[in-house]
Amino acid sequence: MNAAYRAGLLRFTDGDRLEHIDDALLVVQDGRVLDAGPAADLLPRHAHVPCTALAGRTIAPGFVDLHVHYPQLDVIASPAEGLLPWLERYTLPAEARFGDPAHARAVAAVFLDELLRNGVTTAMVYCTSHADSVDAFFETAAARRLRMVAGKSLMDRHCPDALRDDTESSLADCERLIRRWHGVDRLGYALTPRYAPACTPRQMAGAAALADAYPGVWVQTHVAENRDEIAWARALFPQARSYLDVYERAGLLRPRSVYAHCIHLDDEDRARMVACGAAAAVCPTSNLFLGSGLFDFAAAHAAGMAYGLASDVGGGTSFSPFRTMLAAYEVARLSGVNLSPEALWFRHTLGAARAVGLDAQVGNLAPGMEADFVVLDPRATPLLARRTSIASTLAEWLFALIVLGDDRAVAGCHVLGDRVTLAQDVR
Ligand code: GUN
Ligand code: ZN
Repeated sequence: MNAAYRAGLLRFTDGDRLEHIDDALLVVQDGRVLDAGPAADLLPRHAHVPCTALAGRTIAPGFVDLHVHYPQLDVIASPAEGLLPWLERYTLPAEARFGDPAHARAVAAVFLDELLRNGVTTAMVYCTSHADSVDAFFETAAARRLRMVAGKSLMDRHCPDALRDDTESSLADCERLIRRWHGVDRLGYALTPRYAPACTPRQMAGAAALADAYPGVWVQTHVAENRDEIAWARALFPQARSYLDVYERAGLLRPRSVYAHCIHLDDEDRARMVACGAAAAVCPTSNLFLGSGLFDFAAAHAAGMAYGLASDVGGGTSFSPFRTMLAAYEVARLSGVNLSPEALWFRHTLGAARAVGLDAQVGNLAPGMEADFVVLDPRATPLLARRTSIASTLAEWLFALIVLGDDRAVAGCHVLGDRVTLAQDVR
């Protein structure tokens, strides 16, 4: 079945150039983009397709969140004196409850609805160390037909008993989960050694062996987020040149690996990430909230690092890509770097997808790509309406959305072409 939507259209052309077509047509067939472009050009050849007119709205690619923890939904807004006390006081106790599959399923449903409400249609997600929490997440994502990547957090030391893995059985669980879920519908598996202080070298080597055995899977972990965490990692792995080097020695620095935070790296670390094809997930609201530090955009750009933006909820303070893009802008400003609104948008859509090898599927709305898109309302609030109406360039218009927008600016969200019912629809 074909369906057409007539509205403004935000899309990337010529690789990374963001353009806005004021009066566009997006034609969807069997969940994929069949055609997209100026309405005047496309209408004659799609005259027979049922068309939904969305006057005053703009269709844009669904956002891609490169790092978020679904079991931390209820941890959001928990302040602490930095990462390690925050993990101990709030986060790990909250995760311990996910041994109960009913709790895991209930939270997964609210979490995915919250992503969609905010226009995020693809994410790289951490589950807890309970294998059942992964099944619960994938079952819930499959029911919504989403493109999601997720995995079981691996932790076989330095964590509460309720979360601690047995090394061998944790790896067997991963293999079972890969076979059950990786490549099913639009789901992908990410081997997820949580962070080096909570993983033995044997567990990390086992994860790397699985990444070798199942080449399509992803790897995700945390690195160089917080100074106390880094000191701990160095004490545990004195032979490593740096915290990042712990992962490289374990065989985990590789294409399709995603390293969250990457704040306190040095230039050699950055060069190693580029050489190995690894990507960074940049989490500015989390880094500010936990006081972890400022991602060095200038150094990342100089090194040519692949990176995308991420919420890192519950360390992060919002599911909204607008909040994350604004925080990235502000963090970059503090180091003298100007990120354009187009660049911010790219890093939360096509650029994020490209960093993890998903850019043929999501992150843009080109023919053949999956039709996951948001319908933006640039008049969602009085101030947003006022500011967007006087914007004289695309950059000004995008900045207005980034600075003033939130979930209210997401008037609709479509997954494989079909409109999702959002909480704001039933208010
Ligand atoms: N490092 C290890 N675990 C976590 C986590 O859950 N959140 C963040 N922000 N950093 C971590
Ligand atoms: Zn995280």
